[in-house]
Amino acid sequence: MVASGAGPAHPPDMTVPTELIRRLGTARRVTVLTGAGVSAESGVPTFRDAQTGLWAKFKPEELATPRAFRRNPRLVWEWYDGRRRRVATVQPNPAHLALAEMEKLFPHFTLITQNVDGLHQRAGSRNVIELHGNITRTKCFDEGTVISSWPDTGEVPPKCPNCGGLLRPDVVWFEEPMPEAQMEQAAEASTHCDVFLSIGTSTVVQPAASLPFEALRSGATVVEINPHPTTFTSDADYALAGAAGIVLPQLLAYLGK
Ligand code: OAD
Repeated sequence: MVASGAGPAHPPDMTVPTELIRRLGTARRVTVLTGAGVSAESGVPTFRDAQTGLWAKFKPEELATPRAFRRNPRLVWEWYDGRRRRVATVQPNPAHLALAEMEKLFPHFTLITQNVDGLHQRAGSRNVIELHGNITRTKCFDEGTVISSWPDTGEVPPKCPNCGGLLRPDVVWFEEPMPEAQMEQAAEASTHCDVFLSIGTSTVVQPAASLPFEALRSGATVVEINPHPTTFTSDADYALAGAAGIVLPQLLAYLGK
């Protein structure tokens, strides 16, 4: 059980509605959905921010598809390889760290992420559902098996050591099915929770974008944390307009941690 909402020793400087603190203080099941905004303060660009540099002329929807990969495997591989290299150089930010701490405060805490950067796990979160895969894993385009190492022949993309097919990132592309088990766990955690936090997502890409609405319909108290309004903001019970790296540590402070 979370420490009662008696308030922190050093009250944070953001006003969080008392009713929300009380609700979180008595919650037993908390479910969180994160999007690219949670990694923004680590220096990982979000999808709806204008793509910079070489990629400025492409939209994610044009690169993150099987069709794009078949049409130009080198281009798609290099886009992901660049993102993989960037992710390897960044660190989890206070938002990731606060969520890892929050997980310890509740009997049931489920973190559903659309992100593929693995930063939640690097921050210490344990119960993470990756809806869109993980950019640090690579799989065979033909067999679908995860490949952990392959001979460096200089080919781009590299070839599968088992079947000679092309290797690709182990992420979910547009026009591809979602991982069934992860989707089922995410739906279960979203419709069976006391509080649902939707953090750093524009809430536009299905099916993840339905989860906050499903939580609302199932009677959870739903909180959105995002510096900008989204398609979900007007439906949320609480909309905390701020950066996740600022708001989440303050929420943690209110919970007495
Ligand atoms: P988006 O780029 O669509 O949205 C990022 C959200 O984060 C926006 O609503 C921003 O306002 C918000 N944001 C920015 N900085 C923030 C901060 N410091 N703290 C909190 N929020 C912040 O990213 P997603 O919603 O994650 O899918 O995109 C969903 C999916 O679309 C991705 O998983 C990916 C993409 O195409 C696939 O590739 C299949």
